[in-house]
Amino acid sequence: MQEKVYEVPADWAKRAYVDEARYNEMYEASIRDPEAFWDEHGRRIDWFTPYEKVKNVSYAPGEVSIRWFEDGVTNVAYNCIDRHLETRGDQTAIIWEGDDPSESRLITYRELHDEVCRFANVLRNRGVEKGDRVTIYMPMIPEAAFAMLACARLGAIHSVVFGGFSPDSLAGRIEDCASKVVITADEGLRGGRKVPLKANVDAAIAKVGGVDHVVVVRRTGADVAMEPGRDVWYHEAAALVTSECPCEPMEAEDPLFILYTSGSTGKPKGVLHTTGGYLVYASMTHQYVFDYHDGDIFWCTADVGWVTGHSYILYGPLANGATTLMFEGVPNYPDNSRFWRVIDKHQVNIFYTAPTAIRALMQAGDEPVKKTSRTSLRLLGSVGEPINPEAWEWYYRVVGDGRCPIVDTWWQTETGGILISPLPGAIALKPGSATRPFFGIRPEIVDAEGKVLEGATEGNLCIADSWPGQMRTVYGDHQRFMDTYFSTYPGKYFTGDGCRRDADGYYWITGRVDDVINVSGHRMGTAEVESALVAHAKVSEAAVVGYPHDIKGQGIYAYVTLMAGVEPTEELRKELVQWVRKEIGPIASPDLVQFAPNLPKTRSGKIMRRILRKIAEDEFSNLGDTSTLADPSVVDDLIHNRQNKR
Ligand code: WTA
Repeated sequence: MQEKVYEVPADWAKRAYVDEARYNEMYEASIRDPEAFWDEHGRRIDWFTPYEKVKNVSYAPGEVSIRWFEDGVTNVAYNCIDRHLETRGDQTAIIWEGDDPSESRLITYRELHDEVCRFANVLRNRGVEKGDRVTIYMPMIPEAAFAMLACARLGAIHSVVFGGFSPDSLAGRIEDCASKVVITADEGLRGGRKVPLKANVDAAIAKVGGVDHVVVVRRTGADVAMEPGRDVWYHEAAALVTSECPCEPMEAEDPLFILYTSGSTGKPKGVLHTTGGYLVYASMTHQYVFDYHDGDIFWCTADVGWVTGHSYILYGPLANGATTLMFEGVPNYPDNSRFWRVIDKHQVNIFYTAPTAIRALMQAGDEPVKKTSRTSLRLLGSVGEPINPEAWEWYYRVVGDGRCPIVDTWWQTETGGILISPLPGAIALKPGSATRPFFGIRPEIVDAEGKVLEGATEGNLCIADSWPGQMRTVYGDHQRFMDTYFSTYPGKYFTGDGCRRDADGYYWITGRVDDVINVSGHRMGTAEVESALVAHAKVSEAAVVGYPHDIKGQGIYAYVTLMAGVEPTEELRKELVQWVRKEIGPIASPDLVQFAPNLPKTRSGKIMRRILRKIAEDEFSNLGDTSTLADPSVVDDLIHNRQNKR
């Protein structure tokens, strides 16, 4: 296959922080002597007490322990706000663009300071202290950022739950980390549609209890139920407090946040990130990968409910004194030009979005893009799933007018920041490849037995050593942390992704190799969808797999065995889709449901997912070894009744 290569433009090599020679030099230094490298770069943030110890990490089986800068003391909110006040108090920190194109707001660093302090005081008045967990279930409004930074200021641990999750999913997350305080809004607003956030919080608390305070931000002005003694309007509480609140001194390894993410088995895991290393890594990757310079306008389109929003809307950019754009809406409302109009309106220089959005907009054609100017754009970014070369080319040619490099950034909730990505002034691009590792990152490709493969090869992607932004544990379950990430290949961090390395040392992520699927860039455990389905009274068994989907990357394909005597009807099919939406949230809606009187099983009763995956992918001729099936005729029936994708 002929590979296309886009060389680094000469002006980029000149203006960027690092060109190719400098990248090689810094990368080699970071691998040769990680202690010295991070000793230097850890000082990019301000420390109340500077660290003397840099790295203290063990990946040893049974005793995995990850500590960075452990004797340093700092505060994330101080670094994201207070340290900028003298030099950039009047600079815009956050540009907020509402769902409705007529609504926007600029917030300076000084205003951000005052808003965050007020929010912190409101929380403090409700007993929130260092180490307490606070659940944030918010739309994309500035108060979501204020609330996160207020927690960081007080040393409380925030757990942001994406506003698209159902009351049940929210309840599970509140319960798992024992949050006594929940922050929400009356309603969210996306694409002109309202999301009943406060009502969902009420339903979640009715299920799990244990919540003493609900702080409600007014967004739409909807009439919502307020429980006296428990619920308070944020604007009323904020009117009673001052805009001064000291920053809690935090040790580098004190927790900053929990973020729940799906794995191949069991309930979502509470990924725990801590203070010092996370901020160093998020800010450093933001600066180098996006080549962020003072005065640039940076826009990451993620939701703050995902790690991308944490690291690249909030913490990385603000630690760097950047101007960061926060968008409440969706790419196709009021029309398919929305992203590009926002870029023109706010003169965005760096734009970071997901392949699923690019593919959806590509289907709408070039015209909605071409009628906007986009001359402010300098760099484009992609994250969340592999970007197919066709979408890459469209993004490059049509959105970027062939002028803007694309950084395809590979990383995970667990990694805290970007691990593999081009640096735009240093690394030639190949469409579809995340290219080369960031400083300090040692990718290894291993075979099923854990043997490290050299040169051009393909296998499972591991990381051989630690980096400061790495997750530290699964909240409340360190054993699960070790089992999930460090037991498959002892001594290495296993990513769960498959990967190819080409002859130039470029990395190509091929997708998950476990039972996690990636739907529109959202991680979904197939086991979660299965357990939602079998919770339905008419379902006896379910198996869920991913299949290639033009826009979403992967779609959700559910094979469902009904209870004896239940009729498989179109109506029931729709009911099951609605059921999963209600149980988990709209992002988990199955795209296709196939009623399967029997599932392919081994003689010992294990479902053969490999076969189900192949059928869902239309690869009938290539089912592999079916000789271990208890009843091979099951497969013919499944193929015969396969659901169509269109
Ligand atoms: C996938 C999102 C290919 C990958 C930051 C990973 C990608 C999972 C890319 C993590 C990319 C993310 N190319 N695949 N540029 N970025 N992925 O935790 O499978 O929501 O393991 O973090 O998304 O998803 P998560």
